[in-house]
Amino acid sequence: MRTLFVNIKSLVASLETPLHPLRGKALQQLEQMNHAWLLCENGKIVDFGSDDTYSTLASERTIDCTGRFIVPAFVDSHTHIVFAATRENEFVDKINGLSYEEIAQRGGGILNSSKRLQQCTEEQLFLDAKVRALHLIEQGTGALEIKSGYGLTVVDELKMLRVIARLKKELPIPVRATFLGAHAYPQEFRQHHEGYINLIINEMLPIIAEEKLADYIDVFCDKGFFSMDESNKILAAASKYGLKPKIHGNELGLTGGVQVAINNDAISVDHLEEVGEEEIKLLAQSSLIATVLPGTSFFLGIPYAPARRLVDAGAALCIASDYNPGTSPNGRMSFLLSLACIKMKLLPEEALNACTINAAFALELQNEVGSISKGKRANFILTKPMHSLALMPYTFGEDMIECVYINGVKIAKSM
Ligand code: NIG
Ligand code: FE
Repeated sequence: MRTLFVNIKSLVASLETPLHPLRGKALQQLEQMNHAWLLCENGKIVDFGSDDTYSTLASERTIDCTGRFIVPAFVDSHTHIVFAATRENEFVDKINGLSYEEIAQRGGGILNSSKRLQQCTEEQLFLDAKVRALHLIEQGTGALEIKSGYGLTVVDELKMLRVIARLKKELPIPVRATFLGAHAYPQEFRQHHEGYINLIINEMLPIIAEEKLADYIDVFCDKGFFSMDESNKILAAASKYGLKPKIHGNELGLTGGVQVAINNDAISVDHLEEVGEEEIKLLAQSSLIATVLPGTSFFLGIPYAPARRLVDAGAALCIASDYNPGTSPNGRMSFLLSLACIKMKLLPEEALNACTINAAFALELQNEVGSISKGKRANFILTKPMHSLALMPYTFGEDMIECVYINGVKIAKSM
């Protein structure tokens, strides 16, 4: 089926996919074609152009986009959408003054989610996560990463990863799986870290590798969670199976997350709310992608990662949702675009690049998604009529998204 989109007010499309994630001034560059057309066939982008050069093209279906923009679908490179229960009780604890760490110390937080997940069937986890993922797609997400990390036993980490494997098969968008067994120490290993690390290395990793259940390995390398040494040990073991790291680091303290990520050749280090000059310099000089998660700062009331300074220093910035029940129970990327502009002082173009093409690099999917380019998947957003791109982040909380196309097919809204 050939579908032609015509009279597009502005098409955010790129002739070439960059060879590397965008950084510095390049992050401000967003190629826009006014009065444009776009041709899709068999789920792929075939061609695009400006003015009325399309009149000679044959297509089975023509869609009039007068007044509207077409922009690439978002890529969400960091989520934890496989979970058994929401945690609104902790939300109330936070309102009453408890910090994230205090809640975690009391057995809340990740361990709370882990207890609930262990009691939940694989089938139920799958059904719930699928509903969340489909809702994300309706809201403009065209590729997704999903982490394990609420299992914390061999059986339950595998259960989570099998759910993600099934989501990979059943969702219409590309999905990447990340093994995050090192998310927290289970209660029984609180005083015996080595025991849990051995479980990860000797019992979880071999099965995960054998069954090809993960694309990446993640460690929560932060204050009160996994130390630098502990993280290095786990990452070294994972590298023997070819699992590249994507690290949770520098959310709660200056405890070496960035350094661990660099030393272990990670693809990205995510969070970065607590970084100093040293970390910013390291990120600017390395090929590591610096992923910031503004929804987490918004929800927890913690500082925002210094995204403006990171970009000005030359780091390759990415924005993701961190959708999870404890620190960011929402994955609506258009709201994160607003937060990135309002709270992190990013320009709309920078924010959009950070959560499309740079995020695609953070999942090594840059040749498949992340921009509207010939040969890539036809995953994009058709906006409501609007004058300029800045209206997307400007109208925070109210979507300028009229509808979403995935593999060239319009996604019906269910909610
Ligand atoms: O990315 N920081 C670590 N992990 C998650 C939170 C998980 C939770 O509280 O359930 C995060 O914020
Ligand atoms: Fe996270």
